[in-house]
Amino acid sequence: MTMKVAFIGFGGVGQALAEIFLKQQKGEKPSYGFEPEVVAVSDIMKGSVYHPDGLNIKELLSAARDSGSLAAYPDKEGLIRGWDSMETIKNTNADMIVEVTFTDVKTGQPAIDHCRTAFEHKKSVVTTNKGPVALAYDELSQLAEKNGVFWGFEGTVMSGTPALRLPVMTLAGNEITEIKGILNGTTNYMITEMEKGETYQEALAKAQRLGYAEADPTSDVEGYDARYKTAILANYLMGEKIASEEIYCRGINDLTLEMVQEALAKKQKWRLLSRLTKREDGSLEASVQPELIDGNDPLAGVNGPTNAIVYECDLSGPIMLTGAGAGLIETGYSLFIDIIHYHRQSALTKL
Ligand code: HSE
Repeated sequence: MTMKVAFIGFGGVGQALAEIFLKQQKGEKPSYGFEPEVVAVSDIMKGSVYHPDGLNIKELLSAARDSGSLAAYPDKEGLIRGWDSMETIKNTNADMIVEVTFTDVKTGQPAIDHCRTAFEHKKSVVTTNKGPVALAYDELSQLAEKNGVFWGFEGTVMSGTPALRLPVMTLAGNEITEIKGILNGTTNYMITEMEKGETYQEALAKAQRLGYAEADPTSDVEGYDARYKTAILANYLMGEKIASEEIYCRGINDLTLEMVQEALAKKQKWRLLSRLTKREDGSLEASVQPELIDGNDPLAGVNGPTNAIVYECDLSGPIMLTGAGAGLIETGYSLFIDIIHYHRQSALTKL
């Protein structure tokens, strides 16, 4: 079965997914029952190309990487150039929009508008942008449902580590009473480096050099990145419509080398923890803040840029999932998970 796909944004994450598609085409990965056909790419920096019968993925990747411009994609009959992202979403014959634009995390734009337009045009979306899910979950999920299309956003929390799907699919039947987790890799890396003796500033500079931090690291160190992810977990897993601004949030910017070392001496560790706890009356308490935890706590063993999440379940007890929370391949893979689920769902409805 062919799946027509349009990329809105074609930076590192989009290209990582295209690489996975290429592996499928070459037979280096199983087909999983579908053949992706990339019909359009629209990128604000690299330009745009569209062909209803499909574009060559290898040529797309080399145009985007080698020359940094889709203008280098070879001409062929019927090829359209120059559509912007909205035109592409409205006019392509793609069923699946891969929304991986560079989006302002504070406003969620342009990703929110892209999702809305796609759903209104009866197109499914997979995205790794947090804004649409953290800021507009209700509106967008209802719009997707009304139009009978799929919306996947697995990569918005813990990238390719399936923090969203695992509890829904695999832990089905459990009531989740609490979620706590280390959801920001930059700050966890920084704290771990401070445990080794680096100062806050040295640790931040290293995290930036290694590419863990957001373009503006304020979002990481002040806790906003973790707060968006916490809002997504509340909306999607705990059924509570919490706006991210309602979540108590304190970052690690007051944490000093002395505090971290003092904790270590007492066999304790600081971790920036996201916490969602169901109160007796069913409402949800939500916070993001540095917490002092016992050295034997499983979360204390999570070091470096790794993320981890613990689901407190009424029947199975605590279940912990740990893995990468960022990275191009991992985030590209998170889109692939969503696409496989989209395919399985569409195949089922066509039975
Ligand atoms: N800057 C983020 C982090 C990237 O450090 O976790 C993934 O959202």
